[in-house]
Amino acid sequence: MQIGNLKLANPLILAPMAGITNLPFRLLAKEHGCGLVSSEMVSSHGLLHNFKHNNRYLMSHPAEKPLAVQLFGADPDVLAQAAKITAENGADVIDINMGCPVKKVTRSGAGAALMREPHLVARILQRVSSAITIPLSIKIRAGWDNAQINAVEIARIAEDCGVDAITLHGRTRAQGYAGAADWQLIAKLKKLYPVPLSATGM
Ligand SMILES: Cc1cc2nc3c(=O)[nH]c(=O)nc-3n(C[C@H](O)[C@H](O)[C@H](O)COP(=O)(O)O)c2cc1C
Repeated sequence: MQIGNLKLANPLILAPMAGITNLPFRLLAKEHGCGLVSSEMVSSHGLLHNFKHNNRYLMSHPAEKPLAVQLFGADPDVLAQAAKITAENGADVIDINMGCPVKKVTRSGAGAALMREPHLVARILQRVSSAITIPLSIKIRAGWDNAQINAVEIARIAEDCGVDAITLHGRTRAQGYAGAADWQLIAKLKKLYPVPLSATGM
């Protein structure tokens, strides 16, 4: 599997998990054969406005490389500046979170709330991709809820914006982490677009 110019040793990618995928956890995952490890989601505002407090989220070690750092936010400029800082601090891939279902995150327009804002998604991806030279990926959901399944539309926007990889969590925001993920949707997306696609959610 290749994400932009980054060739992975294998297509097994560690799912980003808040409070869990810190450096020691990632080193363990790497030791056990992970092709790409991911940080937990990091606030773009936090990085930009309080770097001293939040730079611990960017802590890395050569043994875990390559490393994807996941950012969340809803402001294209803030995300672009945070992505630049993150890349300068050694990340190999910038991943934008468009799937977090937690109210605290979606209330600010970030995470899965972005699934309902295709125009904003395009602006975010344009700004972020022009701010960095490392690969850019996104993690999306099937949609907001059963009435708004639009992963195909968001993936097309990502493809148009030159995003290097997509991860699809085949559940809606309304499902949270429960219930079956839609693997038919994952298969559909895989057939539709050439961009490398990873799947998450059982
Ligand atoms: C404790 C926990 C924290 C998570 N944190 C994040 C996160 O920071 N960013 C993200 O994109 N997904 C996050 N997720 C979602 C996972 O990356 C994964 O997509 C999800 O758990 C679906 O897989 P599963 O059905 O095997 O649990 C989290 C999941 C769990 C259980």
